[in-house]
Amino acid sequence: TPDIPLEIVEKLRSARRVAALTGAGVSAESGVPTFRDAQTGLWERYSPEELATPEAFRRDPKLVWEWYAWRRELVSRAEPNPGHYALAELERRVPEFTLITQNVDGLHRRAGSRNVVEYHGNIHRTRCFGEDRIVEGREDAGEVPPRCPDCGGLLRPDVVWFGEMLPPGAVERALEAAESCELFLSVGTSALVQPAASLPYVALDGGAMVVEINPERTPLSGSATYTLRGPSGEMLPALLEAAWGQESRR
Ligand code: APR
Repeated sequence: TPDIPLEIVEKLRSARRVAALTGAGVSAESGVPTFRDAQTGLWERYSPEELATPEAFRRDPKLVWEWYAWRRELVSRAEPNPGHYALAELERRVPEFTLITQNVDGLHRRAGSRNVVEYHGNIHRTRCFGEDRIVEGREDAGEVPPRCPDCGGLLRPDVVWFGEMLPPGAVERALEAAESCELFLSVGTSALVQPAASLPYVALDGGAMVVEINPERTPLSGSATYTLRGPSGEMLPALLEAAWGQESRR
């Protein structure tokens, strides 16, 4: 197993409050494509502006809806990987653990994480584009996108598109966790998209140790206290193993 610097292990064992920010890289080992990885990234074929904006939805609601329906189908076949399970285990071992995820795939909750801030929403929830509120059922009259049963407006995935407001409360909860934690893990994110990308710096300003877990360098790498250069599916279980030994195995 990868060797983890002792300082990180001791910090993990002693910390009262730990926060983690996850990105698409955490779900990569579950077979869910990331956005910006070369060749395999979702943005390889489409640009974010073409699909993940309100303008794109107004321009071509069918294309945008079908792209999310394809991703939802892909995700529903995916399983959480050891990285997701390790984060759920971490929540059970640390007095106060906040998981802030940019991922909309719901895999953290499926792995058992409970205190999850869904910073960019959740692809499994649907919202009425007009009324801007969650819609449970929908008349599947085969129309794409389906229509809101109350107002007849178009339905959309309950995810945050570029240029949109984040879910109410998510910004505050994430900021509070980043400001008050002693250890902040930035896992599987390219650290490019705001405001999520500012959270590790808030943690640094608050005196926390920031550990980045990513096989590649990112703009955060130079500022992080430590970087564990490798896949989260290996690094996160190794982190738990180093801190709590055998009993941390599932
Ligand atoms: N383990 C850890 N990290 C990995 C792995 C892995 N197995 N595989 C890839 N990565 C890293 C990549 O090196 C990259 O830095 O995951 C990161 C994925 O970056 P992005 O594809 O940009 O995904 P993310 O950071 O989550 O994007 C942020 O941008 O498109 C918007 O709203 C969307 O939430 C998304 C946001």
